[in-house]
Amino acid sequence: MPVTHVDGGRVTLTHPKGSSAELLLYGATVISWKSGTTTEPQPIERLFVSSKAALDGSKPVRGGIPVIFPSFGAPTHPEHMRLGQHGFARSVVWTFDSIVMDNDAGVSVRLTLEPTADITAKYDKSFHLAYVVTLAEHQLSTDLHVKNTSTSTTYPPDNLEFQALFHNYIRAPANDVLVFPLQDKKYYDKTEVSEEARSKPKVETRAGVDVRQFTDSVYEDAGGKYEVTWPGGGIEIKVRELKDVVVWNPQEAAGSKMGDMEDGGWEKYVCVEPGYVRGFAKIEPGKTWIGQQIMSVIHHERRINQ
Ligand code: BG6
Repeated sequence: MPVTHVDGGRVTLTHPKGSSAELLLYGATVISWKSGTTTEPQPIERLFVSSKAALDGSKPVRGGIPVIFPSFGAPTHPEHMRLGQHGFARSVVWTFDSIVMDNDAGVSVRLTLEPTADITAKYDKSFHLAYVVTLAEHQLSTDLHVKNTSTSTTYPPDNLEFQALFHNYIRAPANDVLVFPLQDKKYYDKTEVSEEARSKPKVETRAGVDVRQFTDSVYEDAGGKYEVTWPGGGIEIKVRELKDVVVWNPQEAAGSKMGDMEDGGWEKYVCVEPGYVRGFAKIEPGKTWIGQQIMSVIHHERRINQ
């Protein structure tokens, strides 16, 4: 029996051991990941999607795992200036390419994105994206493959310079969450009002980072392995080639101003977003870059002193 199927712009992955995931072709957005643990096998939802999120392709999904490419936040690279907040990958329809794997070890699908006329009008670069989402019993992995398809032989080379990020909305009691280990890491605080303060790095002093206040922090060279814990649960994230991590929760201050955020939604999730967002990843013509995250359910809560 097939455990993967595509239907009306949605792809469903069902693992023989009970976990499941669902993706929209729109934005290649994972909108559900259900998994249990070894001690509590009943699968539960691990991602937050606002009940007011648009799931019809009219705007990026407020929740799940939007894919951010080729720019994070407001564009800063000269080649990205015609793009909106967080680039275009999260707001275009991707193509279902193939089932990569469909067995006990994992259930995995591949979506692709090539430049369309609409994309090229705003971003005239040669690229090919492939997004592989793999579901295991207690894990969800996402891999973004970025290829520079330029055949130019000019000097300087026609490099592809981009930012990429997985905008994970992790379902969790936000006010009880700790994210670590980020102590001593340099970060940029986007909640600061002035541009000068936002661009001045701070150093994280907390052993465990909480989001009890409006938080929008970009940690640079953050280590690549994070734990998000709360009483009774947690998620571990391990990454490859994604050197930075963003921790974001709007709390009521900013959350209540978002049209697609459900009332109190900010209490139900924390965004821990691994990415390459300080500076730009660079690939030469013909080369491919792969950014990966592996998210695993933590079986036992681990608390640390703040
Ligand atoms: C985070 C950014 O990654 O995404 C925040 O650091 C931003 O600054 C948030 O507010 C949500 O962005 P958007 O475009 O989905 O509202």
